Amino acid sequence: MEISEKFNEVFGYSPELISAAPGRVNLIGEHVDYNGGDVLPFAISQNSLAAFGARSDSKIRIASQQKPGEIIQGDIHILTPLYGQLWSRYVLGVFWALGDSRVTNGFDIYIDSQVPIGAGLSSSAALESSIAYALNHFFHWNLSLPELARFCQKAENDFVGVPCGIMDQAVSLMAEEGAALLLDTRTLASTHIPFDLSKDGLELLVIDTQVHHDLIDGGYAERRNSCEKAAEILGVKTLREISAEDFERRKSELDKTTYLRAHHAITEIVRTELAVQALGNKDYVALGNLLTQTHISLRDEFTVSCPELNCAVDVAIAHGALGARMIGGGYGGSAIALIQAGERVSIEGEISTAFRDQGFIEPRFFAALPSAGARIIEQR
Ligand code: GLA
Repeated sequence: MEISEKFNEVFGYSPELISAAPGRVNLIGEHVDYNGGDVLPFAISQNSLAAFGARSDSKIRIASQQKPGEIIQGDIHILTPLYGQLWSRYVLGVFWALGDSRVTNGFDIYIDSQVPIGAGLSSSAALESSIAYALNHFFHWNLSLPELARFCQKAENDFVGVPCGIMDQAVSLMAEEGAALLLDTRTLASTHIPFDLSKDGLELLVIDTQVHHDLIDGGYAERRNSCEKAAEILGVKTLREISAEDFERRKSELDKTTYLRAHHAITEIVRTELAVQALGNKDYVALGNLLTQTHISLRDEFTVSCPELNCAVDVAIAHGALGARMIGGGYGGSAIALIQAGERVSIEGEISTAFRDQGFIEPRFFAALPSAGARIIEQR
């Protein structure tokens, strides 16, 4: 059933606006967005859809395909952080961040997340972006995409309570089809880097381990705090501002864990720069090696990997991938592998077998194609 019919079934009338915003895969630049580094994510073809009907009062009602039977109620004038069920906070938080001086009437909203939830593909940022993009369109505010991304991040940080960086919201809003988004997370200045692996006989395979992760538990915040602590001790605003050489020279000022966390971030910022060069030169061997180095750094220094992610990466590399790594916050979710298109079936088979042998849940696979960012898909 189409989302407009589902909206109609719940609210008894047809929606006037439907928006879509994608999930993302981060090619490289992991756990650097809150350290001021550049990141290189792209949008995937799976979207979070949101159908809107404007109301004449200030009420908000939200229903979701993923939460049948639940309707969350709110009011644009009386939203406070942590209000509502967790899933609905990503929607209400965007209303709250934009504020009732901008959002001047209520809405009925039906959402349908086609981005797998908990798979490390940013279903939450996709949901926030679909709401912010639609409201900007509806009220003709003409806020820029980076401005909308900041509102979405504020919603997630302060309303949902997740201390995430800006990468996921920015790429969901700013992505273009066929390109990866090179984003400076300090300024949100961006460049679209053409990214079409198929021309070169390659594919980026996404392996969803089906181990669900949640940034709301303490691990993500702990990593972020470690990086901020390192920056403070080293007297810089963010870890972006210290060179790898200076960092090594001042190593003794940091305790071992803080050093390792910061070392990941500082070397990852350099790897991202090198990956952009490798992509420009179509040097996929170099790109693959950088992806694998990132995985090792996330696994051993940042310690945010898990056995399923390590297994997916190791097996992919052992069977011909040019490189592979876990993506996103960590502790589960998805890995990516840069592979020759012709080897996809055999690599998937090897990973599935290894997962079965280890007693892990059956993984899911798909090819990630750089897709468009947030947009309006229907308007009445
Ligand atoms: C999550 C966060 C992002 C980013 C990544 C790690 O996806 O939402 O802001 O920090 O983890 O790179």
